[in-house]
Amino acid sequence: MDGRRVAYLQAMGLDVWLERGAPVPAWPEATPSTAGGVMALDWAGLEARVRGCRDCELHRTRTQTVFGVGNRRARWMIVGEAPGAEEDRQGEPFVGRAGRLLDAMLRAIGLTREEVYIANILKCRPPDNRDPRPAEVGHCQDYLRRQVDLISPAVILAVGRVAAQNLLETDTTIGRLRGAVHRLPGTDLPVVVTYHPAYLLRAPAEKGRAWADLKLACRTAQDNAG
Ligand code: URA
Repeated sequence: MDGRRVAYLQAMGLDVWLERGAPVPAWPEATPSTAGGVMALDWAGLEARVRGCRDCELHRTRTQTVFGVGNRRARWMIVGEAPGAEEDRQGEPFVGRAGRLLDAMLRAIGLTREEVYIANILKCRPPDNRDPRPAEVGHCQDYLRRQVDLISPAVILAVGRVAAQNLLETDTTIGRLRGAVHRLPGTDLPVVVTYHPAYLLRAPAEKGRAWADLKLACRTAQDNAG
């Protein structure tokens, strides 16, 4: 990381400390759809299951599923909302304009897209980019749970309200969720919340807050080094 960036991040400093070295337990319980054995699948099996998924209506309108991308041994997992038009076309999360800003945010903390793992709450694009429906999230949630389990990251960065509220199982606003280290329900896995890059494109004045969130996530990952 270059000195200017360090100084910039330090100027935004937030001191949040976690206990070191606590083991990360597995997700507590299988939901009904794990009757199909999702939580026992390896990467290849999980990818195939997602590719063939027809559990909700979104399979009718998708071009393809968008599984997730990056380092399967990553220390950072980034979780977004759902594929948009470009992601649906390319089969990869965060490849549109918002994705380019996400890449820049990662670069600013010394990470590349290849070093982290990026996934979404939903694996299929909702038509017209509408918000995911609870039933759709329910059908998809074990796929993400299994990805989290297989990766066992040091920190999860939830980008945007939909990702944050669904991961943390809350309806608290993103403004209130930011600035603290949460735990993924049923686990010790730390979750840090920040704004969605698509929102930051519309509201660039909020980028300063996003930097503070990124710094918090950096510190959390360091403290959770294991
Ligand atoms: N927005 C998201 O939340 N995820 C993507 O993959 C693309 C845009």
